[in-house]
Amino acid sequence: MRKKYIIGNWKMNLSKNEALSLVKETISVVDGNVKANIVFAPPFIFLNEISDLCKIKSGFSVSAQDCSSNELGAFTGEVSSKMISSAGVSYVIIGHSERRSNFKETDEILNLKIQQALQNKLQIIFCCGETLEQRENDSYLDIISTQLSNTIFKLGVDSFKNIIIAYEPIWAIGTGKTASSLQAQEMHAYIRSLISNNFDKNISDNTSVIYGGSCKPSNAKEIFEQDDIDGGLIGGASLNSSDFISLIKLF
Ligand code: PGA
Repeated sequence: MRKKYIIGNWKMNLSKNEALSLVKETISVVDGNVKANIVFAPPFIFLNEISDLCKIKSGFSVSAQDCSSNELGAFTGEVSSKMISSAGVSYVIIGHSERRSNFKETDEILNLKIQQALQNKLQIIFCCGETLEQRENDSYLDIISTQLSNTIFKLGVDSFKNIIIAYEPIWAIGTGKTASSLQAQEMHAYIRSLISNNFDKNISDNTSVIYGGSCKPSNAKEIFEQDDIDGGLIGGASLNSSDFISLIKLF
């Protein structure tokens, strides 16, 4: 059975004190019966301490928001997958639309990052998503198919088992405008059919495909109830404990 996830992508937000109290509060309130894996994706500088806090309770872990496309060396400011892994972190987000657009990350760069992450035994939260224009001109299914074919569908089966796919329509990220549960389910079922065609049905059935884009307690229930949706990648609503805890409690 495939795993469910609630992943908080903090982006470049929160001070150290705010970060630690959010995590402590979440861990103390959420009981062990929750059926989703809960992952905090803080900025690099907080990963170590939050990783230690997460060891207190099962079901909690941490993710990096990015990793370098290089293995090591003279790359000032970069953090390698090996460093991330050696700090006890198990996940990394790759391909987020903000990195694709703000930092000009191409499929070629993403593929290098994927290789680095896999070599260092990280699980990859791989993001894909279409723009508003692509949604409105009805090319959105093809866009997602191309994004996946150019990257994670090039992997062998054993590597692909380390991938969680996050479908994040760009027009829904940080806009307060979420995809309807029907729009999200349509895309998730489509992604699952692509996995099935590229690998096989068993792999497709066992790959977690999560939704991201303005998820909040008031709209997420219906989205998470859809057959092919295995949880959420949460931005804004992961920054305060009461919203994040409410989202976790949907599982
Ligand atoms: P949002 O961000 O929930 O603030 O829309 C989601 C994301 O970018 O992962």
